[in-house]
Amino acid sequence: MKILVNGQLVERNEASIDVEDRGYQFGDGIYEVIRVYKGILFGLREHAERLFRSAAEIGISLPFSLEDLEWDLQKLVQENAVSDGAVYIQTTRGVAPRKHQYEAGLEPQTTAYTFSVKKPEQEQAYGVSAITDEDLRWLRCDIKSLNLLYNVMAKQKAYEAGAFEGILIRDGIVTEGTSSNVYAVLNGTVRTHPANRMILNGITRKNILDLIVKNGIELDEKPVTEEELRQADEIFISSTTAEIISVVTLDGKSVGSGVPGPVTKQLQAAFQECIQQAARVSF
Ligand code: PDD
Repeated sequence: MKILVNGQLVERNEASIDVEDRGYQFGDGIYEVIRVYKGILFGLREHAERLFRSAAEIGISLPFSLEDLEWDLQKLVQENAVSDGAVYIQTTRGVAPRKHQYEAGLEPQTTAYTFSVKKPEQEQAYGVSAITDEDLRWLRCDIKSLNLLYNVMAKQKAYEAGAFEGILIRDGIVTEGTSSNVYAVLNGTVRTHPANRMILNGITRKNILDLIVKNGIELDEKPVTEEELRQADEIFISSTTAEIISVVTLDGKSVGSGVPGPVTKQLQAAFQECIQQAARVSF
């Protein structure tokens, strides 16, 4: 199995990370997860652009072009003969003696590897349970930063409670999941938090918002209150690996009728069509 280290494909067991890498020590870096369907990187351009945006927001100047990155990731997927799976890519600020501040001229370290993904078919078909939790993260959730400590803590809490996801609430407002975006269907309108500093602007989210409009469903990018969430007809979450999954139980109580609702199912079908089209167009 090959991995990508600063543009070079190397055997995974031949690569090493310096203990003074700032990503390792401070979480000083950024990442992306990109799904591969039939060997095609889904939404590659959008993910590459978001990596560049995250880098710029934390003052990392990436030493390669968007096209170089796309080419390298495609090479990696081909080399590892990935059909259905995903790519994880991260860039750290570089290696330097451990000090919080840094000097100019560090060399960003970019690594990427492929892994297999099992499509969560059962979860998509029957829905999952979620718990709510307080959103105690920092206020730049729009940056896809390696600092995921609170996301990890909240996901672990959900996991230990037997739930699939933790839905985060800040000051009475639903922001997003620990590793997903969150939507509520209220009187036929899909509501989701606007893309500002409080959430990660998911690539899946962007696709879903397009599909909502194309399918003539009402959309309102207006924050959902905790009270509204508890009264929602439907709740669903989205991410690169989850795609679209219905939340049928929230904090132990049924959501709506307790099964995946019609709007969620319509969007799930539209999203599958979108994936198939992307694979067809690229061949
Ligand atoms: N997580 N919000 C958060 C906090 C996330 O971590 C993710 C994805 C999303 C959805 O973004 P997208 O649709 O672009 O995957 C929203 C990735 C998959 C992860 O960390 O594994």
